[in-house]
Amino acid sequence: MPEATIEAEELSVVFGAGASQHQALKDVSLQIWKGKSVGLVGESGSGKSTLAKVLIGAVPITSGQVTVGGQTYGAGTGRRRRTPKQLQLIPQDPYSSLNPRRTAGQALAEALDPLWSRVSRHRKTIAEWLDRVELPQGSIDKYPYEFSGGQRQRIAIARALCIRPEAVIADEITSALDLSVQVEVLKLLAELREELDLTMLFISHDLSVVRHVSDNVAVLRSGELVEHGEVEQVFTAPQAEYTRQLLDSVPGGPGFAIRT
Ligand SMILES: Nc1ncnc2c1ncn2[C@@H]1O[C@H](COP(=O)(O)OP(=O)(O)O)[C@@H](O)[C@H]1O
Ligand SMILES: [Mg+2]
Repeated sequence: MPEATIEAEELSVVFGAGASQHQALKDVSLQIWKGKSVGLVGESGSGKSTLAKVLIGAVPITSGQVTVGGQTYGAGTGRRRRTPKQLQLIPQDPYSSLNPRRTAGQALAEALDPLWSRVSRHRKTIAEWLDRVELPQGSIDKYPYEFSGGQRQRIAIARALCIRPEAVIADEITSALDLSVQVEVLKLLAELREELDLTMLFISHDLSVVRHVSDNVAVLRSGELVEHGEVEQVFTAPQAEYTRQLLDSVPGGPGFAIRT
């Protein structure tokens, strides 16, 4: 059996209490094997970000458990922080995820060197990473406002990957970008995934986006997993009626996919 880097077992998350109670995840079981990528798809409000937050330890577990980097967390322990090496989250919004007062170099220095954030000491590594995500020369000393949305997302990707985490979660990282920029960022991520043998949970509300960056696809509907299978199988022979509906709503029809 291969080793699962990320695993959720019968995971349930309930927010609130009494009449305002809302079950965001219902008995979700999912494995991501080492070096593999799972695309998690579902409409807005289906619970995708809640799963990401549970995995990083930002939302408590109501029942069930998750395993990240060899450690298992259940109800009562779910909020314990994962180490940056175990799991990195690349957030959706490239405008708010970077500190406007820190240069691109400083953003990476904070990840590489949390205590002192010394750019000078890590300048070579930082420059290599900014180059690897195809940012122009001289980006190291520039501030977020000097970059486009797509470039900022490249900084966020470099910041997450430069410490060589075991696994990474990308939560709607292209949603705020124009289509042509989305394609470029996806292409970069697909390359880095291969090169670094990354274990990844790639979240999107858009089925066409996950095709080229995932080995497997999981479909979430109102907090429940309704489909989980290999990417080509899900695209060509979906098991759940709901997945069929999602495929039909992909612009250009089920055969369409953003080419990377
Ligand atoms: N902290 C919270 N408190 C109460 N309800 C929440 C909280 N976070 C998310 N929810 C609710 O849980 C559901 C799933 O949200 P979310 O995981 O953000 O969905 P998605 O990322 O798929 O759009 C939504 O109905 C949302 O309103
Ligand atoms: Mg979300």
